[in-house]
Amino acid sequence: MQVTFKKGNPMDVKADVLVLPVYEETWEESPLLLEADKALDGLLLPALKSRDFKAKADSRAAFDTWGKLAAGKLVVAGVGKADEQSADSLWTFASNAVSKLHTKGMKTAAMAYTFAGDDPKKTLQLLATGLLTGSYSFDKYKKKDNKTGFSKLSIVAPKENFKGNGKEALEKGLALGEAINFSRTLVNTPTEDMNPSHLAQAAKSLVAKDEKDLKVQVRSEAEIKKLKMDLYLAVARTAANPPKLITLEWKPKGTTRQKPLVVVGKGLMYDTGGLSLKPSTSMDTMKCDMAGSAAVLGLFHFLVHARPNRRVVGVIAACENAIGGKSYRPGDVFTSRRGISVEVLNTDAEGRLTLADALDFAQTQYKPAQMIDLATLTGACVVALGESTVGLMSNNEEFSGKIGELAEKAGEDFWPLPLNPKYEKLIKSDFADIKNVGGRWGGALTAGLFLKRFVDDDLPWAHLDIAGPAYTATPFGHLSKYATGVGVAMLAEWVLDE
Ligand code: BES
Ligand code: ZN
Ligand code: ZN
Repeated sequence: MQVTFKKGNPMDVKADVLVLPVYEETWEESPLLLEADKALDGLLLPALKSRDFKAKADSRAAFDTWGKLAAGKLVVAGVGKADEQSADSLWTFASNAVSKLHTKGMKTAAMAYTFAGDDPKKTLQLLATGLLTGSYSFDKYKKKDNKTGFSKLSIVAPKENFKGNGKEALEKGLALGEAINFSRTLVNTPTEDMNPSHLAQAAKSLVAKDEKDLKVQVRSEAEIKKLKMDLYLAVARTAANPPKLITLEWKPKGTTRQKPLVVVGKGLMYDTGGLSLKPSTSMDTMKCDMAGSAAVLGLFHFLVHARPNRRVVGVIAACENAIGGKSYRPGDVFTSRRGISVEVLNTDAEGRLTLADALDFAQTQYKPAQMIDLATLTGACVVALGESTVGLMSNNEEFSGKIGELAEKAGEDFWPLPLNPKYEKLIKSDFADIKNVGGRWGGALTAGLFLKRFVDDDLPWAHLDIAGPAYTATPFGHLSKYATGVGVAMLAEWVLDE
């Protein structure tokens, strides 16, 4: 799908549908709405009033234009109150504008740029992202004729509404939208077609022919053994599909000496729970357990388009938590790459095992400046924060605050959770240094405290538990149903900010 931005009068744009965004406070005086009303013989305003239209956020009223406007249909779309807008609300607005509008046969859409606010470029960027994420659909397993969707979308700004050049903002917004959709598809693809090798292939697919700044390396099980990542190997060892340790490095000229920003993603291609088997109704969505790694690949998808001058490393310990004769068992003890021994009391708490070794590997190999991990780690986090919000844990208050701000700027919901040292005793083990479960209460926190044991105290590190928002049963705002691509937008802000 093609998204363009141009200046001109939206009323003159030929398209199947024209979206006209209006604010709650001012919609009746909106110059474009009045222009449309005039063209429609003064019938538009009375019709809106008779439908009790108030321009509230996510409200829409659609009209045929009977050949009196260049567009075939006019949709007056409420943005809500002008002074209550945020990155989240603008992204959501654009996303809903396309996802909720589409009816069969409509191929082209135009959106009038009528937005207020003091950062029109950022607004344009968010709209571009929203138009792409809102038109996302996962239909690669469906018959062709079931496919619907716009092929062309244009954002059209009357000159007085947008000063300056919008090209860069548009491109950044589109790059982010593509990256998020790429990440979603990796997660939505069933494990049969998305095992560790497939994920490695997806990582390699990011390296275009002449690409010199991105390196992708894939390590086999034998190489992982040499790296002494025994926790990771224990989780992986019974699956028919062998593990792949995937590393990505964005290293443009002049950044070789920089300490990198490192992002680690949980890459459980499927999580049966292992011998501590999950009940079927908890297992059926577990193709999503690699959403953290999909966010990492989404970020790198963005990097090759945005090409920032910042060294960035991605690490993914991809594997499958299967069940079989070689399964690791509750009661087993393994020694991590870092030398800390771990008693496994529940094979379904596997993510923290793979991540522990991945975090340690990332630190010893790359000496990060800052490190973030993303993981669909605990059901407890979903219970605490629901399906819209990422749980943010950190060993560094300042860094945590910064990540929270970047998330807000990116339009994502993050909420801080405490890594209270009082709870450290909950993961003490009688047979090893620590155990991989911390009891029923505070499950997101004991998982976070487990990971913290594998991170250097002086390294600013944030752990993002995305178990809720990575894959939703109910869509929220711009988070689509099923895979959402959560985290990619915040990560993009992070690398551009540092
Ligand atoms: N992958 C799951 C967590 C999860 C739950 C992700 C819901 C997405 C949606 C994880 O590996 C897991 O099973 N965690 C256990 C940990 C427990 C055994 C300590 C959990 O949360 O129940
Ligand atoms: Zn699990
Ligand atoms: Zn898991």
